Amino acid sequence: MAARSGTYVFSVDQESERIKMLKSFDETKAGVKGLVDSGIVKVPKIFVRQFEELPQEYSHYRTDQIHVPAVDLDQVQKPDKPRLMDPDQIKVPVIDISDVHKPDRRKQVVEDVKIASETWGFFQVVNHGIPLCVLDGMIDGIREFHEQGVEEKRKYYTRDNTKSVRFYSSHDLFTSRIASWRDSLSMSFSDPDRPTDPQELPAACRDSAMEYSKHVETLGNTLLGLLSEALGLETDRLKSMECSKGHRLHGHYYPACPEPDQTIGTAKHSDAGFLTILLQNHIVSGLQVMCDSQWIDIQPVPSCLVVNIGDLLQLVSNGRFKSNKHRVISNGIGPRISVACFFSGPVNGAKIYGPMDDLITEENPPIYTQIVLTDYFVKALNTGLEDYRALDYYTV
Ligand code: OGA
Ligand code: NI
Repeated sequence: MAARSGTYVFSVDQESERIKMLKSFDETKAGVKGLVDSGIVKVPKIFVRQFEELPQEYSHYRTDQIHVPAVDLDQVQKPDKPRLMDPDQIKVPVIDISDVHKPDRRKQVVEDVKIASETWGFFQVVNHGIPLCVLDGMIDGIREFHEQGVEEKRKYYTRDNTKSVRFYSSHDLFTSRIASWRDSLSMSFSDPDRPTDPQELPAACRDSAMEYSKHVETLGNTLLGLLSEALGLETDRLKSMECSKGHRLHGHYYPACPEPDQTIGTAKHSDAGFLTILLQNHIVSGLQVMCDSQWIDIQPVPSCLVVNIGDLLQLVSNGRFKSNKHRVISNGIGPRISVACFFSGPVNGAKIYGPMDDLITEENPPIYTQIVLTDYFVKALNTGLEDYRALDYYTV
């Protein structure tokens, strides 16, 4: 008898040993940073991935090292396809969104946003109006939280999704096949039913998170306006559907890894919500996005923010906008710090979303069914990042 976990097949003994290791790691409440601080020189088994999932530059060293026993060959993912173009030559579009209130400029920006959202599902924005000191303050606050004494951090360690502030290592630790090399602090903002009480936020990043949250919400609404127009709709359409309600900040910390060729920071996934705005520190890169079956680096550019379409925007746009797969590779230098702001709608409500009527025609029939937001997020949260996406349940 064997337990299947994605492409990895574990015997019952191996599986119970794996769960034991996951539990004892989780019980330390110190995350991956705790492992690194303890001086480990080898990546523990629960983090070790098969070579197919690792970046090519690492994977070719590893073809003789299949370390997870009993691989189900039928299920093994194909290695990354041979590269067709030099990936260094392919760049995620950078869009300057200054002066978008001026009609001529706006027309061009909307066109750029449209092309990027229909193809990459990703773009970077410059001149977005969030002061550099607010961006730097946010990164510093997240760094300070993760680098403070472990006793203070432990107070926030939880897997209880109802808590507005949570610290944990891999939200999908027990539902995914292999653990990821990162810790996260998740903070909820502008939940319509429960405004954020600043005192609930960790002192290390309280002020910076409150400040950044205000700015990023404004930017989120500006972007939703541009995206609405890019779909040929009224500017306030996506906002009036409450797509920017209930945003959550995830402050990720990717410690330097002693064996970066063995594991990954964030496994391949797409984001479940409507829209994500990602701030990354400009020292350590690692974010990659899929383009024509190749992984393309998104190099951090100072003061740029990465924007990506989430699965729900793919759904309401009836597939016009693309929620693209991305991942974060591990690094021997670090830490890498990023702050993802997810706009996921009024997540605690039973609001219904489906492909927007205006986008449905005879030639473009709905390709998704309607969803109840709460049910959708239960599905999304109860599965490993890379296994499948909740959106896949709702295709026609
Ligand atoms: C995410 C994500 C990328 C990063 O949080 O969904 O893709 O750079 N993060 O941390
Ligand atoms: Ni993501």
